[in-house]
Amino acid sequence: MSWLIKVPATTANLGAGFDSVGVALNLYLSLKVDLSEKWRFVPLSEGMDELPRDEGNLIYQIALQTAKQFGYLDLPACNVEMTSNIPLTRGLGSSATAIIAGIELAVCLLDLNLSKEEKLEIATAIEGHPDNVAPSLLGGCVIGHYDQEVDWIHVPIHDLVFLAIIPDFELKTKEARAVLPKSFSYKESVQASSVANVSVAAICRGDWITLGNMMRKDHFHQPYRKKLVPHYDKIVELLDEEVYGTFLSGAGPTLIALTSKEVIERKLADWQTIFPKLNWLPLEVENRGV
Ligand code: HSE
Repeated sequence: MSWLIKVPATTANLGAGFDSVGVALNLYLSLKVDLSEKWRFVPLSEGMDELPRDEGNLIYQIALQTAKQFGYLDLPACNVEMTSNIPLTRGLGSSATAIIAGIELAVCLLDLNLSKEEKLEIATAIEGHPDNVAPSLLGGCVIGHYDQEVDWIHVPIHDLVFLAIIPDFELKTKEARAVLPKSFSYKESVQASSVANVSVAAICRGDWITLGNMMRKDHFHQPYRKKLVPHYDKIVELLDEEVYGTFLSGAGPTLIALTSKEVIERKLADWQTIFPKLNWLPLEVENRGV
């Protein structure tokens, strides 16, 4: 028996939708799974060399955890070839793809008949928030809330370019969460949530100008995290007049500019010349399943 599993990357937050809004993008983790004598994870893409090749692999750990939730003690051993063009530890949801891939692996191997809602509950309980795992599983844009269970709304997004600006350094989510405030005053909470509310309304209406404006007014995380990304202000300033808005993708360090194909054709080469060390990657929304 052989299975193929393909899971898209994601960008989370979209400015003020902290831990709640995420979008699937057209970069993928792909697994080719074949039954075998023993577990073996074979990395076939650059940058995956440090991933564990045995049962220490996160994908296996998640698959086993899922299996146990349904009363299975073990999984049949497999050879898993892994290919990925998702940069690791850059804020593009690579760990969420491993979580979704692990759940899908258990589903394939044990013939579990799980609905997308059941998969989403399992994935979100593992991740703690739905903003990466939900779009990775469902495609498109997902706006979600999690507290014991997930409430979510699926919104397709079309005709937008997500220009990822990826630096050559990693930023661990734990480190990027450590710089956030422990609490907000009532007044700050009202400000922060009202920016998030307008952001979500703008997403639902496809009003990218308003969404971009709200990205500039986020209270939840970007003002605290931008010191971790030395080029943050320079990039935002360089792009500001041309794009709808620029935001820190997930916990960073990747920045993403919301823009159009026309702007990419006209400006991308100039921007690459000004910041040649950054990897400028125009991406599209993966709307499968929406
Ligand atoms: N919403 C999360 C954060 C995404 O910004 O920390 C990364 O897990």
